[in-house]
Amino acid sequence: MKKILITGGAGFVGHHCVEHFLKNTDWKVVVLDSLNYAGNLNRITDSEYFDAKRVGFIWHDLCSPISKTTRDMIGDLDYMIHFAAESHVDKSLEDSIPFVKSNVLGTANLMEYLKNFQPHCRTVVFSTDEVFGPAPQGVYYKEDDRFKPSNPYSAAKAGEEMIAYSFAHAFGLPVFVVRSMNIIGERQHPEKFLPKVIRSIIDDKKITLHGLGEADLSSRCWIHARNVADGIVFLLDKGQSGEFYHIVGEERSVLEIANWVSQAVRGKNLDESRIEWLDYHKARPGHDKRYALSGQKMAAMGWEPPVNLEESVKKTVDWTLKNPVWLNL
Ligand SMILES: NC(=O)c1ccc[n+]([C@@H]2O[C@H](COP(=O)([O-])OP(=O)(O)OC[C@H]3O[C@@H](n4cnc5c(N)ncnc54)[C@H](O)[C@@H]3O)[C@@H](O)[C@H]2O)c1
Repeated sequence: MKKILITGGAGFVGHHCVEHFLKNTDWKVVVLDSLNYAGNLNRITDSEYFDAKRVGFIWHDLCSPISKTTRDMIGDLDYMIHFAAESHVDKSLEDSIPFVKSNVLGTANLMEYLKNFQPHCRTVVFSTDEVFGPAPQGVYYKEDDRFKPSNPYSAAKAGEEMIAYSFAHAFGLPVFVVRSMNIIGERQHPEKFLPKVIRSIIDDKKITLHGLGEADLSSRCWIHARNVADGIVFLLDKGQSGEFYHIVGEERSVLEIANWVSQAVRGKNLDESRIEWLDYHKARPGHDKRYALSGQKMAAMGWEPPVNLEESVKKTVDWTLKNPVWLNL
């Protein structure tokens, strides 16, 4: 039976990957996580596919090297997906140090472990469109475009990527970098956009959108975590050492997403009086108006997201309405 290690598997994106492997393979899944404020093991056990015989959990903070005891607990690996990271932009603007520690030093500790003990483990290092900084209208960054991270979170992710690339290049490790964009899905931390909008609509509260009105909206590319997991499985087979890949969803403004949520909860679009516009530069220095990635490379390799965005948003909202405990963490 094959074995995969998922770092950050108790986090939002990581737990969807854990679920994907439990559902679609017979592999053993080992989760390594330090359980910071965003990590929650209930995400894993809450899944209908959870099987205690196939899932192992190891508490470890990647800011420290992986010890012999931890190595023995992990055992031999076929695959690894590295999600563990400090992930919240606002928190990185308050204090960058935990971001540099977890994302850069943490990745270096993981690469040292691979180099010395698991040199054949095919490994995905998971990163973000934010490493490129803001994208002007019409620009979709390609895999080898130049970095211009504009906040400490994305700068630390750029550092993480470069550490991973250097180990692939210098030691021939089968490590490659996968970037994606705003990810949505079930059991997301309530600090993130989609759960916040769902909560506000249920509570009849105003919704804060970044922009100065409909003509000047913040826009993002969005994708469901299950689509991300599907793309990663594709790449675990086809990805090449030292390469970069983009798993890309659909570009939509924050207003379109909020309207879809409102349709799913209330059966109608948002009332204008319920929207509060915020100048994103003044309100959130270090936040960019638009991010965008090109998905041409993966499309040419034969991959596209299995489920479209509008349906993904609707499914996520419907599920969250039935499982409101996940809005109250
Ligand atoms: N959520 C998104 O929209 C998105 C988009 C693109 C890329 N990403 C990347 O995907 C990954 C996962 O994002 P997420 O939204 O699930 O984040 P998250 O904050 O929900 O989960 C991160 C997990 O990593 C763990 N972790 C943090 N520091 C650690 C450390 N030092 N050692 C061990 N574990 C540690 C946390 O406990 C948590 O369980 C991150 O690398 C993030 O940069 C996320």
